[in-house]
Amino acid sequence: MKKTASEEKQVKTTKEKASAKKTVKKAEKTTVTVKRKPTVLFVASEANPFIATGGLADVIGSLPVALAERDKYDVRVIIPLYGTMEEGYKTHLTYLCNFNVPVAWRNQYCGLFSYKKNGVTFYFIDNEYYFKRDTLYGHYDDGERFAFFSRAVLECMQHLDYYPDVMHCHDWQTALSIVYLKTIYSARYGYDHIRAVFTIHNIEYQGKYGRETLEDLFGLPQNVGPLLDYDGCLNLMKGAIQCADYVTTVSRTYAEEIKDPYFSHGLQYVINDNAAKLKGILNGIDVDLYNPEKDKRLFANFSAEDTSGKKVCKAELQKMLNLPVREDVPIIAVISRLVSHKGLDLIKCILEELLSEDIQVVILGKGEPYYEGYFNYVSDTYSGKCKTIIAYNKDLSSKIYSGADIFLMPSKQEPCGLSQMIACRYGTIPVVRRTGGLNDSITPFNDSRENGNGFAFTNYNAHEMLYVIKDAIYTYGNKPVWNKIMHTAMTTDFSWGVSAAQYEKLYDLFI
Ligand code: GLC
Repeated sequence: MKKTASEEKQVKTTKEKASAKKTVKKAEKTTVTVKRKPTVLFVASEANPFIATGGLADVIGSLPVALAERDKYDVRVIIPLYGTMEEGYKTHLTYLCNFNVPVAWRNQYCGLFSYKKNGVTFYFIDNEYYFKRDTLYGHYDDGERFAFFSRAVLECMQHLDYYPDVMHCHDWQTALSIVYLKTIYSARYGYDHIRAVFTIHNIEYQGKYGRETLEDLFGLPQNVGPLLDYDGCLNLMKGAIQCADYVTTVSRTYAEEIKDPYFSHGLQYVINDNAAKLKGILNGIDVDLYNPEKDKRLFANFSAEDTSGKKVCKAELQKMLNLPVREDVPIIAVISRLVSHKGLDLIKCILEELLSEDIQVVILGKGEPYYEGYFNYVSDTYSGKCKTIIAYNKDLSSKIYSGADIFLMPSKQEPCGLSQMIACRYGTIPVVRRTGGLNDSITPFNDSRENGNGFAFTNYNAHEMLYVIKDAIYTYGNKPVWNKIMHTAMTTDFSWGVSAAQYEKLYDLFI
């Protein structure tokens, strides 16, 4: 039958509609396939394996990789290019571009380099005047150096045409990136959608400067002053906490603790005011690196299922340190920076009393001369029972983690702490004070006498600690129970995957 003109038109329109629908569907499909991953840029002052002075570098070396493995976010990292960076990496960086960065009324040269590792792009900010020095921190112009770095982070985005969805800054050295973003850059094309997360690794270091530096050094207008103003000076960490969309710390307990003046180093008012956007996420450790089954530094390898190699590690360690080779005697180890907040006063108070027990003590670390001198004295006086090695030594620390039985970590404050987790991996049972990340990673056997991967005490009191150490020594004598604690410790999941999943959830709030 012949169709009327109107019918014909209708058929045409239906066809057109159908084809239009197809095109839309196609377009939708195309959109899906070309949709870019949301991006996160980590901003920090150090990262493993390029340059490290502490736990921060472990986090920045591992967390981005764990996030990238989950494949949801495009993860990148930016750090300064230090003169002391590992040569092996320095010679393999790719040069990207250079530009000028405003540092208040001056313009400073900035080179940008990159290096891709484990699915993560690392960017490096180059300026030899600021970063070609013997040490990373402790210079008279640290404020200016990190103001330059923080501003360079934002400037480089327009040169890379890369504007991350989330800029995740760590510690005071990067705090100004968030302040610059929210006060100067967010009104500019490309920057408006960037959300900022600030992570406090240690609230003790805040970046405090005189008020006169606001315009002259940091290049910020007078009306921004109140954001940074705190307790008679400019406090960069305070500025970041005020401006960030979210603030995190490296354990849940520490997130609560820093609301209290005992822990907050003066920032309790700012923390409490911003409590609604504060979250604690426990760090992980690199479980491939700290793996007793594979660690080449150990005298013998072992696993949670077969710990016979640990006996070899212990005997060899005793031989190496000139301690009597005795399996029945527990070795108590301390591997720590020798500084006061690690709880060394507690150890000093009871060490000689503790040494009256049938035990051996090994101390490895470097730090304040006061503690170095004291531990050397005890080592000389109780040779054959106590050995002190004043050094940072990765090889030796692996040998001690694997050869010891009990790991003592009585920190006064510990935002997260990595050593207690490493000790667990090597079957060395931590005795910790219930604070910060120590509280969140160690389940005390002395609470229930059933489950547990360690022992814990609460008050900053030397004899309370001694009592719990003695409990651990006594429990060590009960092999079936001790083996169970060792198994629990060695199989506790400290992998970065657990933390990465929580950070991902946080970033998801912004996408
Ligand atoms: C700081 C903290 C330490 C934490 C590390 C990594 O060094 O003092 O507790 O483990 O940062 O977040």
